[in-house]
Amino acid sequence: MRLVCRLLFIGVLGMVVPAVAVGQPQANYDESKVPDYTLPDPLVTRSREKVTTAREWFAKRRPEVLGLFEEHVYGRAPEPLEGMRFMRLESSAKALDGKAVRKQVRVLFSAEESGPAMDLLIYLPKDAPRPVPVFLGLNFNGNHSVHADPAILLSTKWIRDRAPGVEKNRATEAARGTASSRWPIEAMLQRGYGVATAYSGDIDPDFHDGFENGVHPLFYGEGQTKPADDEWGTIAAWAWGLSRALDYFETDDDIDQRRVAVLGHSRLGKTALWAGARDPRFALVISNNSGCGGAALSRRAFGETVERINTSFPHWFCGNFKKYNGREGELPVDQHQLIALIAPRPVFVSSATEDRWADPRGEFLAAKGAEPVYRLLEAGGLDADEPPPPDEPVLSRIGYWIRTGPHDITAADWQVFADFADKHMRAADE
Ligand code: GCU
Repeated sequence: MRLVCRLLFIGVLGMVVPAVAVGQPQANYDESKVPDYTLPDPLVTRSREKVTTAREWFAKRRPEVLGLFEEHVYGRAPEPLEGMRFMRLESSAKALDGKAVRKQVRVLFSAEESGPAMDLLIYLPKDAPRPVPVFLGLNFNGNHSVHADPAILLSTKWIRDRAPGVEKNRATEAARGTASSRWPIEAMLQRGYGVATAYSGDIDPDFHDGFENGVHPLFYGEGQTKPADDEWGTIAAWAWGLSRALDYFETDDDIDQRRVAVLGHSRLGKTALWAGARDPRFALVISNNSGCGGAALSRRAFGETVERINTSFPHWFCGNFKKYNGREGELPVDQHQLIALIAPRPVFVSSATEDRWADPRGEFLAAKGAEPVYRLLEAGGLDADEPPPPDEPVLSRIGYWIRTGPHDITAADWQVFADFADKHMRAADE
């Protein structure tokens, strides 16, 4: 009996989101109940002009779509401050049993040493020719959680209490390596890639405090106390932070800043897509189980909906996004256009069979829906008209796979990402 209770308890805790929350309608998981919808044509401007050349895409439609996502979904982010600088905190040429070079670098977002700041943790394969291509992604619970390496600086920032090894919102030594299954660093080094990460909470802690903590206040105008309705929420701030990591890479000769793949899981997958859409310096973009507000089409309202995400996580998107609660059809964009903003760069969308909350079919359809823009730019497309069977990756320029299993990012996912990067980011340059 006790065991049963315990299992039930773990089951409840382990669930990403309860199936029914008070005052919220049941999520729809029935394909026949997906509403009828028409997606905005990625190639037709708001004034109903069809763009027919790559030039027109880049001059007219791309800036328009980017502006619509800024205004209605994620919010506008500022340029970095002049005083931003980088501080080497630690490095070793003999990390991970001599297999890696490790660097820890603080990105100070302003001239103030007291913060806000983001600590980058970077592992590079020791013997690979320089400069090396790198996978960059934010983590959920602190850099120390990605690997048990005792030299990783233990975060002193706010971390959510339910994270393993965290007490009273602070990491303890027991938190080291607790997310290592999500960060197969040695395996990636072996494949010739560096891995870089930073704690998302360094940029903005993941709870709604009215935007008092994190990076937002650094940019408030006179008398401003929170972002305006078209200004950045937390996801846009995280994406902005990823671009600041790239700013650092541009100063580091060991890293090939022209071959940086940005990736993320779940809320951080939404973030990776937005970072890749905004910042064309990212050579390749990977979304893992990013779902609503990420790779999944909003208009399908399958699993998590716009209303649900805006209610559970009011700080993630910009204020204007809330206007579309229950009115997905009125959005001037849908998420296939987010993927299209990445064109012609390679993009990979990764789903999981049990991750219905993130709407795997909606993720596939968004990837497919980006295709007209890739085709216009003569960049290829998604070589599948229907979702492929589980565990069979499609490695075309718009790539897709659905892994068997739950909402998670695993060593198997990373191997597929490395295959995709080998094909689209390595081969071209070597
Ligand atoms: C919740 C949320 C999702 C998000 C996920 C995560 O499930 O509803 O939108 O992707 O958390 O980040 O793990």
